[in-house]
Amino acid sequence: MSLFIDSGDLDEVREAVSWGIVDGVTTNPTLLREAAERRGVKGLRDYLVELLKAAGRGRPVSLEVMSTKAEDMVREGLRLYDDLNPIAGNVVIKVPVTTKGVEQGELEGIKAIKALSEVGVPVNATLIMTPSQAYLAAKAGATYVSLFLGRIDDFVRSQLGIKHSKWDYFNYRSVRAALQGGLAAPARSPGEALASPVLSALNVNWGLLSGVEALRSVRAIFRSQGIRAKVIAASMRHPRQVEEALEAGADIVTVPYHVIKAMVVHPKSEEGIRAFVDDARAANYGELFR
Ligand code: G3P
Repeated sequence: MSLFIDSGDLDEVREAVSWGIVDGVTTNPTLLREAAERRGVKGLRDYLVELLKAAGRGRPVSLEVMSTKAEDMVREGLRLYDDLNPIAGNVVIKVPVTTKGVEQGELEGIKAIKALSEVGVPVNATLIMTPSQAYLAAKAGATYVSLFLGRIDDFVRSQLGIKHSKWDYFNYRSVRAALQGGLAAPARSPGEALASPVLSALNVNWGLLSGVEALRSVRAIFRSQGIRAKVIAASMRHPRQVEEALEAGADIVTVPYHVIKAMVVHPKSEEGIRAFVDDARAANYGELFR
């Protein structure tokens, strides 16, 4: 039940680590680019050194390679690991599991994961969207597999024509229930039933209608096959999605800074604390602490 922060922002990492509830950090090139632009970062290496120190020993920090060919990914992964791991002993190399090479049958990411894992470099297999990718990455020796729940939800919603913005909660249970309700309508023949658009909608993303459903499938496969790679629920967008990922058995959830902060918010908690503070004053609580 580890909680990682998904951020390339040094201030966010420092702050989140100071809360005492963060067990690691995941970055990616997009997050580092955004942080570098926001903070006016000049030297990326120096910045990463600070980030690794801010996370501290015992809190893994995933740093991604930039190439898409296996041999280049391996070279970059080794370079990053040899250069930066001595800082705080917490570097994990992030390798995308798919590349254009997969279309050509080359499995570049898988080959790179295998080569790095074999020489003892911990690998976080990233951009995982399917249980098959998770399975192959784990077979190749990945220490972590990062399933991108939010992007799977984006894919499903776009296939189903559901408009949404990035941080909206995806209530996939309601979508599934609504679709299944549509199936209950009587068809005039088996052929008509099979041709039903509702049936094709239920088959979107091979029937895995959300990132959470994909996570359940990964967990079931890892359990049944005795796979030890840790499953990171990544691309998290909403506190409720984090709860669902934890329910579904994610080993780790990696969560953006603002979503971690949103996890403690509820209007009734807010209202309650205001009333308690007022009543404590009225009841002379102050006397207890003098
Ligand atoms: O950990 C992966 C994450 O950084 C991707 O998140 O929101 O860009 O899909 P997102």
